[in-house]
Formats: sequence, C-alpha cells, structure tokens
Amino acid sequence: MPTLLPEELVKWQFVESQVKQVMGAYAFREIRTPIVERTELFQRTIGESTDVVSKEMYSFTDRKDQSLTLRPEATAGVVRAGIEHGLFYNQTQKLWSMGPMYRYERPQKGRYRQFHQINMEAFGYQGPDIDLEIILMTARIWKALGINSIQLEINSLGTPASRQVYRDALVGYFSDQKDSLDEDSVTRLKTNPMRILDSKNPDMKGLILNAPKITDFLDDESKQHFSILLKALESHGIDYKLNSNLVRGLDYYTKTVFEWTSDQLGSQATVCGGGRYDGLVEQLGGKDVCGIGCAIGMERLTELVEVSVEKAENSQPKIYIVAVGEGAEIHASIMAETIRDENQNYAVEVNMDGGNFKQQFRRADKSGAELAIIVGEQEIEQGTISLKPLKSDDEQTTVKQEELIGQLDEFFG
Ligand code: HAM
Repeated sequence: MPTLLPEELVKWQFVESQVKQVMGAYAFREIRTPIVERTELFQRTIGESTDVVSKEMYSFTDRKDQSLTLRPEATAGVVRAGIEHGLFYNQTQKLWSMGPMYRYERPQKGRYRQFHQINMEAFGYQGPDIDLEIILMTARIWKALGINSIQLEINSLGTPASRQVYRDALVGYFSDQKDSLDEDSVTRLKTNPMRILDSKNPDMKGLILNAPKITDFLDDESKQHFSILLKALESHGIDYKLNSNLVRGLDYYTKTVFEWTSDQLGSQATVCGGGRYDGLVEQLGGKDVCGIGCAIGMERLTELVEVSVEKAENSQPKIYIVAVGEGAEIHASIMAETIRDENQNYAVEVNMDGGNFKQQFRRADKSGAELAIIVGEQEIEQGTISLKPLKSDDEQTTVKQEELIGQLDEFFG
C-alpha cells in the first residue's frame, strides 16, 4: 500500500482537477460512499468465483460479528447507495466518485493493494447513446491530459441468457481439450470458464484463439445495441479494436464492455475498464434500472501524465517572507495573513525559528519560492518592504507596505 508523497500529489491534484472538469462537462455529479461495506454486497455483485471476491478481499468481522470488507471497487457501493436513497426512482443518474480501493493482489509496478479509482456510473439509460457518451468522456480525459498512447478495446457480452448459452459452449470446448489446459484454466473451467479467455499463458494462446467466440452467440438486441455503438464511435473518429476475448474480471457485466490500454505501462496496461450492468440494480433489490460505468486507475493514469507536471507545480506561485530583527517575526506573520486574505492563490511561507539573513535566504531558496519578501527593522520603521526575486538576477526593490498586493500581482502576472 503505497504512501503518496507531496511531490507526487502535485501531479495527482492536477490530474484530478482536469478529470473533474471533464466529468462536469458531461453533467456527472459526485457521490461519496463508504470505504467499508458488508462483505455480502461484493459477493453478490462482483461474484463469488471471481479472483477479486475469492482471493483478494480485505474482510474482517466487526464487534457484532458482521463480516465487512474494504471496498475492492466502487460500483457495488454506488448501486447499494442509489437503491437505499431512492436515486433510481423515476430518474436517471450520472454519478462519479474517487477514492482508495483495496485488493490483496501480488504487488508490482502499476498494481497495488491500495490503489485509487476515478469511477463513473450512469443509471436509467437503455440505449447505446450512454455507452458512447461514457467512452467519449474518457477519450476527452486522455486528451485533456495530453495522453496519446492509449487504445480502446471493446466487446459485447450480451444478455445473461445469451451469455449462459455461450458459457455452456465454452465449457464443452475446453472440456474436450482438458489435457491441454494449464492448472489455472482447469480451476476456472469449473468456477468461471469465461476467464480462461483472459489467460496470459502463451501455451494457452492457440487453444483460446480457436475457442467459440461470444459475438457468435449474441442475442439480436445485444447485437443491434453493439453495432449502433460501434458506428457512433466511428462517426466520432474514435478508433477501437474488437476483442472477443475481453470478458472483464467482474461478474455483473452485460452487453458492452470496454478497456483502455496503453503500451507505455508494461504488464499492467489497463488504465480504464468498464461496461454495462443492466441487471445489477434489480439483483440487489432495486427497480429494473440499467446501468453502465467505468473506472480509471489513478496510479496508472498519473504514470502516463509526464508533460504536465511542471505546469501543475507552477500553478501556485510561492512567496517566502524573510524576517530579521526586533518585532520582525510578528510583523511577517501579520503580513502573510494579509496576503492570504487578499489572494489565496499565493502559497506563502513565513520564516520560522529565527536565523540571520543568510540562513533565511538559504531556506527561501530551498523552499522553491520565486519571490522573497524582506521584513527587517529598517523596513518596519519606514513602513516599507523589500522584494527580492529568487529565480532571476533582477534587482531587489523596496516599496511601500500598502503597495504590496499590487506589486505581487504585477510580479506574478
Ligand atoms: P476493474 O477493471 O477491476 O473495474 O478496475 C478498473 C481499473 O482500476 C483498472 O483498469 C486499473 O486501472 C485499476 N486497478 C484495478 N486494480 C488495481 C490494482 N491492484 N492496482 C492499481 N490499479 C488497479 C472495476 O473496478 C469496475 N468497478 C469498473 C466499472 C465501473 N465498471 C462499471 N462501472
């Protein structure tokens, strides 16, 4: 579970603010659900046989012996909350949330036991228009962050009924070839046969290639839904790759599923994954309301955003107040408060714990500030302050105290 350090978080905050702006432009609103939910919620939604539920959950019992789990993903909690608060009653909803998720996976680059998702869900929209909109929204996020090396893969899993027929066909096919299956696939054949298609084992490649394709088993409605979506993506100039082996790791999906992957990330290449889950709200006791959503992994997303760091770092101009002499310290802290009253866009650091001019200027340089404000006995006496640019050879200037804010605005432009 990584700790996010201040330097990294500068980038995170920049990315988050860009993403929030894009989601706002599609009229998505924020929802915050608890990090802990009843274990049963995840078992019923994500599915008992999935890796997430069967081996990766952080579960514990509380003081009343109730089994609780740190959320491994956000969709289940959002659906639960929506039902509980009547959010799906005679209305559509577009909701986003952000926060930490927990999965007991083998940690490696891009895969952690605590990670963060930006999650988007839309409820009550039946047609493929919303599938299109969510994909467009994610594409716009990549664009806003200057990410080009990213590719959309898409598939349709059909309705639960057509999926069952496909599942049976798949079990038949792989059972006939049982001797050629690896250990993992033998287990999955019993528990979750569609996940065999996800196998990364090169020895399984040929077998998977010749397996029945889900696209040949789709019901008419799912087929039509999918073909309208694909055409619409083409109209918007969004490139996609059809991947009939894309089954996703969670059980609740129906019809459209998709993933955005990048070749810049090594083995953990999926930046964003999602799809429709039309039966989920009803399955959890709500009305028959369809849903679709996706989640972006923040750790992987920020890894792709390199160019913008400098931009993000410079977003808050920094000032360091150097204070030397009798009464200078209190004078400096009052001045810092005045600057913050006027304009909170400046990050103001006041020298603390004394020191002579030389020591304080050294701290000012180290702080990364662009400008030092100097408060000395002479300045206090004369009602002036001195300004010294720290990142250029420009001369130090002395101005009247009441001119300070104007001078700062001028300096930082
Ligand atoms: P997911 O594919 O399990 O989907 O996760 C979505 C994204 O979260 C992944 O593509 C990846 O970027 C990130 N992620 C997952 N596990 C880890 C990890 N251990 N370390 C770092 N990043 C990770 C879901 O969670 C669905 N709830 C998405 C969704 C929303 N479907 C419909 N609505």
